[in-house]
Amino acid sequence: MLPDLQRDVTRARELLEDGEYGRLLEGAAGRLARPVADEYQIRRGLSELARARNPSVRAVERALRCVHEDGFLPYERSQLAAVEKRRQALAADETPVEYHLHGPSDEGLTEEVYEGYRHEVRVSDFPGAKPEYGPLLYALARELDPDRVLELGTCLGISGAYIAGGFRNDNRLLTVEGGEPQVGIARETFAELGVSDHTTVRHDRFQDVLLEGGESPRFEIAFLDGHHNREATLEYFEALYELAESGAVVVFDDVVGYSEGMDGAWRTIAADPRVELSVTTERYGIAVLKAGIPEKRDFSVPV
Ligand SMILES: C[S@@+](CC[C@H](N)C(=O)[O-])C[C@H]1O[C@@H](n2cnc3c(N)ncnc32)[C@H](O)[C@@H]1O
Repeated sequence: MLPDLQRDVTRARELLEDGEYGRLLEGAAGRLARPVADEYQIRRGLSELARARNPSVRAVERALRCVHEDGFLPYERSQLAAVEKRRQALAADETPVEYHLHGPSDEGLTEEVYEGYRHEVRVSDFPGAKPEYGPLLYALARELDPDRVLELGTCLGISGAYIAGGFRNDNRLLTVEGGEPQVGIARETFAELGVSDHTTVRHDRFQDVLLEGGESPRFEIAFLDGHHNREATLEYFEALYELAESGAVVVFDDVVGYSEGMDGAWRTIAADPRVELSVTTERYGIAVLKAGIPEKRDFSVPV
């Protein structure tokens, strides 16, 4: 018997022996029902999205479907595997480095004055998009064919490499990172994966790029993955809305189960009437803006 099943059966027997029929049913039903309910929700969401005529919505639907049905072509699979290989190499790199961020990370608001901080860490301590989630960024970039993508939170360049890997035309990624040594390592990531010509890493704080009236980076896709604080996220959303081109798609990372603040921020953003269509995946909140969709719709597609 498979080990998981064996464990479930043993546990079920124990519960029965203890007379806990209610808990047994709840547990068994929950375990069985969850994947079925998710699959149902995904299929229903995808088929409703597929009926839309709006090009941004159709592109989002194709990207979600490609990930759900694992519809990547062989050469795309090898591109995705190369990004994952780089992530794994960095995750195994125990080199000590000094992390210096002159600005807030997950705490603090955008208008505060930051001394910045320095920590001794290892390269392996930095996060990077995992293969469960990166391919959706790749597929969105491929399907939306954006002139410009704006990423906030480069880190070591893994999510950026997924995004740039999906480019098929003269698409460009501007990615913003406030921390060292991430900026330098991210540039190496892009060079190693052959996407440097399509990417610019800007060493800056999000608030200086978005809120301080600097050079305005307009975009067709934005990916916000850093400074995971409720108020800051809402403030960045306001700024991103102003910079969004028609039919732009903004992807918010870590809005499902990361923290109460982030879950709440996404609920507020998704409910905003300016968000014409929202899709909540297992991890991301996807907002379609300025696309001319007549009736606001909100979907849950847990891929
Ligand atoms: C979760 S990591 C990004 C991971 C990356 N997107 C990936 O998936 O490969 C967040 C990054 O945002 C940076 N960051 C956080 N707050 C920032 C801010 N206010 N300005 C600039 N960078 C910031 C951190 O230094 C960190 O490298």
